[in-house]
This record gives sequence, structure tokens and C-alpha cells, in this order.
Amino acid sequence: MAIRCKPSDPLWLFTGLFTWFLHVSVALVRLEHPAVKSDGSISLLVVGDWGRRSLYNQSEVAFQMGKIGERMEIDFVISTGDNFYDDGLRSIDDPAFHESFSRVYTARSLQKQWYSVLGNHDYRGDVAAQLSPALRRIDERWLCLRSFILQTGIAEFFFVDTTPFVDKYFRKPNKHVYDWRGVLPREDYLSKLLKDLDLALRSSQARWKVVVGHHTIRSIGHHRSTKELGNLLLPILKANTVDMYINGHDHCLQHVSSRSSRIQFLTSGGGSKAWKGDTDIFNKDRVKFYYDGQGFMSMRLTETDMNVVFHDVLGDNLYHLNLTKPQQHSAV
Ligand SMILES: *[C@@H]1O[C@H](CO)[C@@H](O)[C@H](O)[C@H]1NC(C)=O
Ligand SMILES: *[C@@H]1O[C@H](CO)[C@@H](O)[C@H](O)[C@H]1NC(C)=O
Repeated sequence: MAIRCKPSDPLWLFTGLFTWFLHVSVALVRLEHPAVKSDGSISLLVVGDWGRRSLYNQSEVAFQMGKIGERMEIDFVISTGDNFYDDGLRSIDDPAFHESFSRVYTARSLQKQWYSVLGNHDYRGDVAAQLSPALRRIDERWLCLRSFILQTGIAEFFFVDTTPFVDKYFRKPNKHVYDWRGVLPREDYLSKLLKDLDLALRSSQARWKVVVGHHTIRSIGHHRSTKELGNLLLPILKANTVDMYINGHDHCLQHVSSRSSRIQFLTSGGGSKAWKGDTDIFNKDRVKFYYDGQGFMSMRLTETDMNVVFHDVLGDNLYHLNLTKPQQHSAV
């Protein structure tokens, strides 16, 4: 069964730029956001760890996102999670949704679809509220799901719900209460997710395969690398020649490459509170860039090129990463 959700946003209806298909029969929800630029390229911004009622420079980062978004004519925005601090949303009526999202990302260029995953802080609130379609009636840009696939033509984005992988939230939750409804039994949830992801990656025909999650796989930031993801998720990414893994969780901007694969690890978790002053100086192998402050990431993808830029809170370009692929020939 396939449900086609009609976008009721007047802009989308007017321009007819956006189609949203939801195939509920497949294990991982598949969404489509086809390229609309005549050259087939896709442009987007990635921000993480942001929802602090505009404090800690969240508004300043949002302002710069608006400017860069305008210049790049972005197609959509990706959120790497920890969308609402400290404890997610309390309900669909939680004013934090306005105070940390709708009234912060007000620039014209940011009035696009947002695709979000959940972070560990989001799991400390009412997860069903953040996933609820009711939020789309309040702000049409909002779309948060646990794990899903976004097809854009040249690139496919695989969003993975990483919080349930992390042992300590189950074994030592301390004073925190996590909303695990829909995730238990945990082993079944994780093994099904990994199996579905593996299948989806394997059958992907996209030029670029990008995986997005909240938690780090490789990081020298405060939280360091997430060993559960290194053990369980990384082998699947390697086996399926994923180009890039993008995460938040560490409140920094970071690029780490790899000795054992072509995967580039990018952290975009600088949406608000940053400046931890805590880096793992002993683990700097293949760390190409680390910035301990606020900012966000922009991406432009074509058939042959991926241009990634980290921008700081003043909008300055801190770092470029360019990846290329050989031109595709129809028959050789
Ligand atoms: C906001 O950004 C400015 C410019 O980088 C920085 O000096 C200031 O410390 C930041 N404020 C916070 C609360 O992080
Ligand atoms: C990456 O590509 C952009 C756009 O083509 C270019 O302006 C920039 O200089 C390149 N950066 C590096 C480090 O190659």
C-alpha cells in the first residue's frame, strides 16, 4: 500500500516543486524529494543540536543559515537530532516547538522541508509528539521520523535512529527517563533496523549514498566515537560503499576520513551551545578538521561532485571538502 501525502503548503502547491510519497509497505519509509534545478544538482544545509529557545547563538546560526541558504538556493534542511533541549518535546502542544524551531528559523530560504532524526535528548521527552504528523499542521516544514530513506535522484540519504544503539542509556540512565516506546525489545528493533538498512543500501542505485544519524562513529569531540555504532553500523556502511556518514551529538564541526574505507565522517552539531574545550588529542588519526564552536554545514551535490562547507556563527567559511566521482557512461 502506498499513501501519497499531498503537501498543502501554498508555495509547494504553487510551484509544484515537491512530491512526497510515503510507502508504508516497506520497512524503512521512503520519501522523495526530486531535484528541481535544471542541472539536477541538490543543495542543502545540515544543522544539529540546536533547540535552545534561540539562546547560545542559536538565532545567530539560524540567521547565517538563512543567508547561505538563500545564496545556494537550498532544496531542504537536514537536522542531525537533539532538536529540543533539554528533554525533547513534552507534547505536541509544547511551546518549545515554536520557541526553538518555528520562530528561530524564519529566513525565507529556510522555509523548506526539514528532515530530522531524533537525538538522545529528544528521547528524554515524548518521542511520539516529535514524530507526530500533528506538528506538520503547526509548521509544515517539520518532518521527523526514526529511520527513513530520502531519494533525491543523484543522492540517497539514509536516516538512522542511533540513540537505541547506545548501551549506557539503558544500563545507566542516571536521572534521565528515556521514552523507549516503539523500540523494545531492543535487540529485535536494532537487528531489524540494521537488516533493512543493509538491504536498502545494497539495492540503492544512487550516485551518492549518505547516511545520517545523531551519534558519532568517529569523533575527537566531548562524546568521542560511539563504539556500538563502530561495531554494528560501520561494517554495513563499509560493505555498501557509503560515501559519507553525517552526525551531530558532539557540539562542533568536524571532518574525519578513514584508513580502512572511503567513508568520510562529518559532524555538524554546532546549532547552539558549543565550546566544550574537550578534545581527544590522542586519537587524531585522519582528523582533517575540528572546530569547537557554533556553525552548520552546507552541501551541494551533482553527478560528479560533492562540495561540503562548514560555516561558523558569523557565516564565514571555515573548511571545504570536495569529493569527486568519475562521469557515468551509459555503455562502455
Ligand atoms: C556566540 O558567538 C560569538 C562569536 O563567535 C562568541 O564570541 C560567543 O562566545 C558565542 N556565545 C555563546 C553563548 O556561545
Ligand atoms: C572545492 O570546490 C569549490 C567549488 O568548486 C571551490 O571553490 C573550492 O576552492 C574547492 N576547495 C578545495 C579545498 O578543493
